[in-house]
Amino acid sequence: MTAAPGWAGADQIAVREAVEAYVHGGPGDGATVRANVAAWESLPLRPRVLRDVTHVDTAIDLLGLRAPVPLLAAPWAGHQLVHPDGEVASAKGLASAGLPMVQSAGSSVPVADVAAHSGPFWQQVYVPDDRTLIHGFLDRAVAAGATALVLTVDHPAVGNTLPFRAGLARLAPSDGRPRVAANFPDVAPGTPLGTATDLGPRDVERLAARTGLPVVVKGVLRADDARTAVAAGAAAVVVSNHGGRQLAGSVTTAHALPEVVDAVGGRVPVLVDGGIRRGEDVVRALALGARAVLAGRPVARALADGGADGVERWARETIEDVRRALVLCGAPTLDSVGRDLVGDFLGSP
Ligand code: FNR
Repeated sequence: MTAAPGWAGADQIAVREAVEAYVHGGPGDGATVRANVAAWESLPLRPRVLRDVTHVDTAIDLLGLRAPVPLLAAPWAGHQLVHPDGEVASAKGLASAGLPMVQSAGSSVPVADVAAHSGPFWQQVYVPDDRTLIHGFLDRAVAAGATALVLTVDHPAVGNTLPFRAGLARLAPSDGRPRVAANFPDVAPGTPLGTATDLGPRDVERLAARTGLPVVVKGVLRADDARTAVAAGAAAVVVSNHGGRQLAGSVTTAHALPEVVDAVGGRVPVLVDGGIRRGEDVVRALALGARAVLAGRPVARALADGGADGVERWARETIEDVRRALVLCGAPTLDSVGRDLVGDFLGSP
């Protein structure tokens, strides 16, 4: 990150380092964060030639969202930790480019205030031990127009994330106002809002029943869990290891995706995130059967560097990057992307 705009008077270098640690850190030495990126890179593309790529059609419709390419902004907590304008800036930048946003439960700005600046959005949610604690938040998310909920299921404990916890602590605002609890004004500060340790398939049903919204289950890495989620009524599944921030040494999402796609068998869309950085990675994910991908850290970096304008610039460039990669692969429409576009992971037995 080259600058930390908006932090007038702050020690710019210290802020930059703290942002870097919070956003880019992971458990241990961050090996799983890097492994996600490396896994996509190790999947060779097998471009087709002598195909007509004149007409490019890459838009998707998914549970109330429309996007020019199959890419959404992943939910990540505390946008004000990296930029004073927080989620409002992210929402503006993404909406200008037409990319949908998944809002984090741990937003710095209440859901309705973000929604006022965004296009259609999905709302991510953690289900805590006391399920009633999130009722008010769920009602506000529905009222603000969320078209789906995203239930994050890979968070029964917080990963051993010293680097980013240290970064988070150093970013704690001097005014003492929390930057990740704006959605819970009705909950006493300090009340645990992390995931219940007895989270189960019934929670998918409960959330759908309470809100009337489709529920997307995020954080699945195995065929059996994917089948459980679909049987519980999940409207989509996200293959995710939380960007390598939870379990150190977790399987990479590129490697987990095919088994989940096969297990789901087309019953619901499968999405994937973790380490997706370029248009070529999006093509790789689609080739392995994903309907769409999410990106987390790239948005955080763009927000930290340039606020709403930075996010818009990143979104526009990335949309073009995805479209260019599809054309270069001889696959100008999403229907024409198949497993033949990728080879075997380099280094596979
Ligand atoms: C996250 N992620 C996340 N996920 C979620 O469901 N709720 C959340 O509040 C957060 N918070 C969060 C904070 C930060 C700083 C990061 C980087 C990530 C995980 C996120 O949704 C997504 O799964 C990963 O970011 C995807 O990996 P990449 O694209 O960052 O490599």
